[in-house]
Amino acid sequence: MRVLGIETSCDETGVGVFDGDRGLLAHAVYSQVEIHAEYGGVVPELASRDHVRKTLPLIRQVLSEAGLTKESIDGVAFTAGPGLIGALLVGAAFGRALAWAWGIPAIGVHHMEGHLLAPMLEAPAPAFPFTALLVSGGHTQLVETAAIGRYRLLGESLDDAAGEAFDKTAKILGLPYPGGPALARLAEQGDPRRYRFPRPMTDRPGLDFSFSGLKTFTLNTLQRETARTDDPAQTRADIARAFEEAVVETLVIKCRRALRQSASKRLVVAGGVGANRRLRARMDEMSAQEGGEVFYPRPTFCTDNGAMIAYAGWQRLQAGQTAPLAIEPRARWRMEELPPV
Ligand code: KG4
Ligand code: ZN
Repeated sequence: MRVLGIETSCDETGVGVFDGDRGLLAHAVYSQVEIHAEYGGVVPELASRDHVRKTLPLIRQVLSEAGLTKESIDGVAFTAGPGLIGALLVGAAFGRALAWAWGIPAIGVHHMEGHLLAPMLEAPAPAFPFTALLVSGGHTQLVETAAIGRYRLLGESLDDAAGEAFDKTAKILGLPYPGGPALARLAEQGDPRRYRFPRPMTDRPGLDFSFSGLKTFTLNTLQRETARTDDPAQTRADIARAFEEAVVETLVIKCRRALRQSASKRLVVAGGVGANRRLRARMDEMSAQEGGEVFYPRPTFCTDNGAMIAYAGWQRLQAGQTAPLAIEPRARWRMEELPPV
């Protein structure tokens, strides 16, 4: 079975084609970064309008790159939530309508399940069960994964998601949107010994996170230190480094804790922040100490993409699950509500 996947939940239009026998055949992402950059963040209405412009051309491009015609597609998967409702509506309407016109089944995919399954596109793929750390712009979650559709939430962020904390802190440091990658680049030049930021909620039991205090801590440190430094550029880099170290170590501490209480030593790290190089290095170290193994998607599949939606959709379509004709995207949607495959 060959599935076309469409991702439009936020500020990236993503399209991919996954084939059950041959694997991923093609994929492409169109990023709206330039549109939102001047506003310092995603403007939902502009995001929706641009998805309207880009989705069909991107589908044509991906099909043609893979040498495929629409007749060779057996199913359509689209992101049905969670995300920006207008943006979701675009992908859902295009995806559902194409499937109807082509006379093939469609399925609405949960965006975070897409992220969680993205490492399955790599070799070696993780075997079930595993523990997943999902770190994106909208979510920070630890998920015990028994199988596809059998998820138990172990912990999550009580306020800002890890990616959101990166983005907001980057803004405080005067960095351009999207802040996460820009902050990570600045942190490369920072001295890790200069400042030590708190590791929120690591001094008490449990697997929840809280990152909003770190951005206030950054703001206060920045104001205090710029007043007394004669090298403000280095100070900013040192602060960026301290922030990154704090987020990364907090995530590593919670993952270690989750692995110790889990039967499996396999860890999956996915979502946009999973592209962070320091996070990957520290997770590898921790997992080696615990005698485990970490699985990541390639960095381009950590951030939003259509390949992961095609793959997750393929899993569910080949199990006979389909979406009704009504288009019902959901801005909020708990992964634990998903049916098993
Ligand atoms: O998964 P994603 O593409 O979109 C959502 O589902 O939210 O994640 C985007 C988030 C943004 O907050 C972005 O700043 C962050 O991932 N991000 C990074 C890096 N690359 C992307 N954060 C830290 N370091 C990176 N290298
Ligand atoms: Zn995402």
